[in-house]
Amino acid sequence: MRYFLTDKWNPDKNIIREAVDVLRAGGLVAFPTETVYGLGANGCDDKAVRKIFEAKGRPADNPLILHISNPAEAEDFAHVNSRARSLMDRFFPGALTLVLPAKPIVPCSVTANLKTVAFRMPYHPIPLALIESLGCPIAAPSANRSGRPSPTDAQAVIQDAGANIDIVIDGGICDIGIESTVIDVSGKNAFILRPGGVSRELIEEFLGEKLVTPASEMMKASPGTRYKHYAPRVPVLLWEKMNDKQTFSCNGSYGYMGLSQPDFYCNSPCMEKIIFNSVENYARGIFACFRSMEKIGVSCIIAETPNEHGIGRALKDRLLRAAGL
Ligand code: TXA
Ligand code: MG
Repeated sequence: MRYFLTDKWNPDKNIIREAVDVLRAGGLVAFPTETVYGLGANGCDDKAVRKIFEAKGRPADNPLILHISNPAEAEDFAHVNSRARSLMDRFFPGALTLVLPAKPIVPCSVTANLKTVAFRMPYHPIPLALIESLGCPIAAPSANRSGRPSPTDAQAVIQDAGANIDIVIDGGICDIGIESTVIDVSGKNAFILRPGGVSRELIEEFLGEKLVTPASEMMKASPGTRYKHYAPRVPVLLWEKMNDKQTFSCNGSYGYMGLSQPDFYCNSPCMEKIIFNSVENYARGIFACFRSMEKIGVSCIIAETPNEHGIGRALKDRLLRAAGL
């Protein structure tokens, strides 16, 4: 693995060139985005994309997002309808991923043999420079080992999958800290498959329609929703502030993270307490916090559940999954 540090607002051209050479040769490059770090391969190269699954230990039936550097690129790989086009106009670049009917040109490894393909145009200058210079979309999932918390800094990438990556580009800490919102716009009704960096409220306001809640059958169409995710190696327990009678039991000391001062009973001592001053900062810090608490050796993590509004919805989703609920 080669490691490069660069300024995200002014990515070093030599580093971009080296990374693109690796992508052209079928290698893997990890890079920051505004959501989380991605593990990328040339999205037009089926063999290269397969390496991502190996490097992550990712189930072969979980499709990948194609990262593009301008909305028009999606037209080469998918049938883009008018709803998708207006969502792209409004939310690209940014933390929104659109699922659309795939054209046959998309490698099967990207779609995991589904008839649809997902697109996202990041606003982060490093992936944009990589995609533009490669001249092809970059297929990339989050750069964690499958099931682990997503990486929001380069050290977490190296820790998880460093040995299987050719180049890691360090562009600092990710702004949002939680993955993109995945919305399926391939059919008549649009629905959110994964809450994320762009809130449901913003999308509904823009589209002027309520997004249908997908039946569980439809959710199964997004394989990522089936697996346990984002979990640290120690149990995560959830605390609702409104529930003042909540008690927790932990074999050893616990770590706490949330927006409020902890106000519950636990049979063991608190080893580490992290209080965020906004829900945005909680979202930005959740995955790094999971990793740091694991490292200092807490026996369990007690996390406050945020209100289901704005980024709070995505944050709550990640907490529920990390808790295995
Ligand atoms: O913010 C993000 O989305 C990050 C950065 C790196 O872009 N990427 C990311 O990728 O989180 P990943 O692979 O960890 O999550 C992508 C999610 C998975 O739940 C996957 O199942 C879903 O998107 N997905 C991808 N293609 C799909 C498709 N064709 N149909 C339904 N779901 C799809
Ligand atoms: Mg992921």
